[in-house]
Amino acid sequence: MSVDTRVPRPQSRVVDLDQESAAAVDVAVVPRRRAHGGRLRVALAGFGTVGRSVAHLLQEASREVELVTILNREVDRKRVDWIDGEVRWTDSIDEALDDSVDLFIELIGGRAPAGSWIRRALERGISVVTANKQIIAHDGPALLDLAAAHPCHLRFEAAVAGGVPVIRAIESGLAGDRLTRVAGILNGTCNYILTKMEREGSAFADALREAQALGFAEATSSQDIDGLDAQAKLAILAMVALGIQAPPEQIATRSIAAVDGVDFRYARRLGCTIRQIAWAERNGDRTLRAGVGPTLVPLDSPLAAVNGSENLVTIHGRFGGETTFGGRGAGGDPTAVAVLADVLAIARGTAPLARTHAEAATAVTSAVATPFYVRFTVVDRPGIVAALASVFAKHQINIDALLQEPGFPENQRPFIVSLDAAPSDAVHAALDEIAAFDFHIVPMLAMPVLARESAAGSAA
Ligand SMILES: NC(=O)c1ccc[n+]([C@@H]2O[C@H](COP(=O)([O-])OP(=O)(O)OC[C@H]3O[C@@H](n4cnc5c(N)ncnc54)[C@H](OP(=O)(O)O)[C@@H]3O)[C@@H](O)[C@H]2O)c1
Repeated sequence: MSVDTRVPRPQSRVVDLDQESAAAVDVAVVPRRRAHGGRLRVALAGFGTVGRSVAHLLQEASREVELVTILNREVDRKRVDWIDGEVRWTDSIDEALDDSVDLFIELIGGRAPAGSWIRRALERGISVVTANKQIIAHDGPALLDLAAAHPCHLRFEAAVAGGVPVIRAIESGLAGDRLTRVAGILNGTCNYILTKMEREGSAFADALREAQALGFAEATSSQDIDGLDAQAKLAILAMVALGIQAPPEQIATRSIAAVDGVDFRYARRLGCTIRQIAWAERNGDRTLRAGVGPTLVPLDSPLAAVNGSENLVTIHGRFGGETTFGGRGAGGDPTAVAVLADVLAIARGTAPLARTHAEAATAVTSAVATPFYVRFTVVDRPGIVAALASVFAKHQINIDALLQEPGFPENQRPFIVSLDAAPSDAVHAALDEIAAFDFHIVPMLAMPVLARESAAGSAA
């Protein structure tokens, strides 16, 4: 599309959908371009892991985009000699969002001040690309509305699954389907820790320490370990793929911190391994069923083959069945590729990300009927199995198998019970009753088991 660079800002154009096909979007937005050879002028906020990689790639893409400003707090310590001498270094958002800028890339992370900076850019008709999952999970629909009102772009491919182009796939390749379920491995840190425990028999604490030493995990890693990072990404996927919006904190999470080396031994005896799985489904009545947590997955499923810090997302459509996307879920360079893809989509005049017509969820629940794995660690004595069996029977839950590995001391003996598919509410009610028995040495660990025929299906 041609752009008249003489037109004062905002140089955007509203296209009549009757005249021009714009694939289910309200407006097609042509970015403003100053008289700099038609290149998009870019301000980059955040010169950290991702920001530095993005700056490299922006310089490579200099035929289409021009990096004009880099913003970082205490910016002087950030200066590097490989950035073009013309680029302005600043710690002022007023300078970064001055009149000469067409596009703002937000890579500082966190909700404040990033959220107000993004809002400020959009209100001025400056398009925004961000990798900030927390902002998009909480405020994505309102910000997309703001972008549509001004009109400019808001894109966030890198906010979910790093370098895996899953938002783009949903937006374009799968646009013709009616998507009903998303599931997958969305947190590379958890996957690194769990595969380390699986392959090398490491204890959780050792695997976490190693992930931290290698830079995969933060020193305070609760966002990853307790599922909050995957929870935010899942909320974005639910909005974009399933058209349903829910505050991320309403999606139930379970921590991987309680998973022990012995769980991998028992999981293997059941033909499974353990992964942190995030899943979401939309019900007809606008209920969002979703959850994040450690889950037993069959050894022959694609999820079991996801190694180290990789991510995998499976999307189920009513017509197209399951489509799976995998790759590098984090890291400066892979994430920067996703950021650049958004930047170039805007520079090339691609239609804006559809202002989502996602409806607010009427309810959010993680209740689902699924088989369960429950590990008990007890002081061994007669009658324990009978006590468990009677509680499960009372709640109409059928025991599939009971396994006990040899070699543990009598005063701390782990064994597991696998349960046939049962409503998760009933299982949790039974476990609440069982928790009151006095034979536990370590709290029980319950994990859903993914059915073999639905390797990325639902799990509580
Ligand atoms: N790293 C990944 O693999 C990855 C993957 C997907 C998405 N993301 C997302 O990408 C974004 C950036 O992540 P990152 O890993 O690059 O983080 P990072 O390495 O911590 O970089 C953030 C940069 O922003 C600067 N900054 C932070 N707050 C600021 C403020 N208030 N004012 C000015 N500058 C500020 C930091 O400066 P200091 O040097 O002073 O700290 C740092 O240079 C986050 O939203 C993250 O969730 C990251």
